Amino acid sequence: MCGIVGGVAQRNVVPILIEGLKRLEYRGYDSAGLAVINNGDIFRKRELGKVKGLELLVKADPVPGFVGIAHTRWATHGKPSVANAHPHVSRDTIAVVHNGIIENHEQLRATQKQDGYEFTSETDTEVVVHQIHQALETADNLLAAVKATIKKLEGAYALGVMGTQEPDTLIACRKGSPLVIGVGFGEYFIASDVAALLPVTRRFIFLEDGDIAAITIDSLVIYDKDDKIVTRSIKESQLTSDSADKGEYRHYMLKEIYEQPFAVAQALEGRFINGRLLENAFGHNAAEVFDKIKSIQILACGTSYHSGLVAKYWFEDLARVPCHIEVASEFRYRNPVLAPDTLIVTISQSGETADTLAALQEAKKMGAKYSLAICNVPESSLVRESDLVLMTRAGPEIGVASTKAFTTQLVTLMLLVIAVGRRFALSEKLEQKITSELFGLPGKIEKVLALDSEIEVLSKQFAEKEHALFLGRGTHYPIAMEGALKLKEISYIHAEAYPAGELKHGPLALIDADMPVITVAPNNSLLEKLKSNMQEVSARGGQLIVFMDETLHAVSDSNVQIVKVPQVENEISPIVYTIPLQLLSYYVAVIRGTDVDQPRNLAKSVTVE
Ligand code: AGP
Repeated sequence: MCGIVGGVAQRNVVPILIEGLKRLEYRGYDSAGLAVINNGDIFRKRELGKVKGLELLVKADPVPGFVGIAHTRWATHGKPSVANAHPHVSRDTIAVVHNGIIENHEQLRATQKQDGYEFTSETDTEVVVHQIHQALETADNLLAAVKATIKKLEGAYALGVMGTQEPDTLIACRKGSPLVIGVGFGEYFIASDVAALLPVTRRFIFLEDGDIAAITIDSLVIYDKDDKIVTRSIKESQLTSDSADKGEYRHYMLKEIYEQPFAVAQALEGRFINGRLLENAFGHNAAEVFDKIKSIQILACGTSYHSGLVAKYWFEDLARVPCHIEVASEFRYRNPVLAPDTLIVTISQSGETADTLAALQEAKKMGAKYSLAICNVPESSLVRESDLVLMTRAGPEIGVASTKAFTTQLVTLMLLVIAVGRRFALSEKLEQKITSELFGLPGKIEKVLALDSEIEVLSKQFAEKEHALFLGRGTHYPIAMEGALKLKEISYIHAEAYPAGELKHGPLALIDADMPVITVAPNNSLLEKLKSNMQEVSARGGQLIVFMDETLHAVSDSNVQIVKVPQVENEISPIVYTIPLQLLSYYVAVIRGTDVDQPRNLAKSVTVE
């Protein structure tokens, strides 16, 4: 969470910092700020809310500079306020931007107060800037002061630091939070994500954990965690600066919903030969690993956890592969038992989710020998830390609510089910059937997207509601969970999902005319059971909205709204039924007038615990 941009150039870096912050706003948007060095002094501007506010402030009172740092914040320590916004400054001479959490900030703060430092914010970051200031009293230069400071920090950080003593220098370092260096011609930039710097460069150095870099316009020196000078390779990004454009759409979320047929096709592209899945799509030694594993442990958070839940049903039902799944933040602290020869499968859109990364590290400590990441960001920490990788290839997802990332996760997880399942009970016939269904998926999704206006009309019924229940069974229970998460995330309506069979064990007590019950009802072996559950709702005056297979006979009445979903094969049906639920949440949020792409209190990339 939070976004960092910085630069050292022979031109005014402020417009670059502002544009970079806008591109990082998905990481947090509680407040924004920047600082530059101008004529040997630090000038700082900070504003509550989105980057637009900061931009107006800078326009009204410009402060150009050739060296600068900037930040967009997602509040952890201290409420969103101008005082808590970064950059933080110590005695007008040092300025710092920070991502991550300094866990020992209370102890450091107490000592620094005794040493006479005054605190102007409630943040954990302010201790970093004072510590650097104090270290400079004895250190030779800014680099040495930062090196001395980070030895005292516990927790995670990515830092951008500049000081008036060396007005041409920018120091960047990272531990646990991502940071990249953008390499320009006669200029360098730093950012927490390549997306921020695409207008100025496509050449990037990905700092490794523990790295610290000293940057001026004509030199870049990187030290590793053992304080040795290292050369890190420059990688060319395939992204272009307009890859994250909203185009003709009102919101990124709607654009990303509509991109799903293409995204799903991309997830399959080049991964089959003569209709057969290529195992080296997962990595050159994937086949060897798959030969050895006896079970799967999936670790993920949020929407990515939901895709993992669907995969658990698939692994066990289609291929008889034992599969466990757990929310990463629970796994990492639970002291779980891991069976030998388990493949750890992490799922993450961003590849930077702190809990998922920590759960992977925990699993490795417990002796896990094999790991595989399903991820959307090629240069992410998760990809770098995993033995095998299958990229989802959804393209940049900007809306905080995951849409195309989820459906492409499901597609790639099905590829994993095929690859591992071949070694278990997945028959060749079923593999061929699933493969052909996957290739038909983009067309199916196109058809479901045609329900757009019908769902938009339906969503009007929701505008006044404050609660909703989502029901599903089997592989569609996680889809109901994902539907509920989407609705609460962007419309702020309280929504819960239940496996439909659980209704009578408690939630039925909630049913009345004010509680819409959204049911996912494909034509499968559980349909008759699901119908009984829907009867239980109707009998108690509940309002049902049913997404139902078009081949089934049912008509809407005053208590039941039926939306007919194009007929789809059982195996891939969860992917298809996701789409109408995404559209429903989107239109409900639009009617309620929420900030669809940047819902309150959330951030796209959750890089803190
Ligand atoms: C999805 O709509 C959410 N914004 C959130 O649950 C997200 O899926 C979760 O934070 C995990 O993120 P990741 O996939 O980047 O790891």
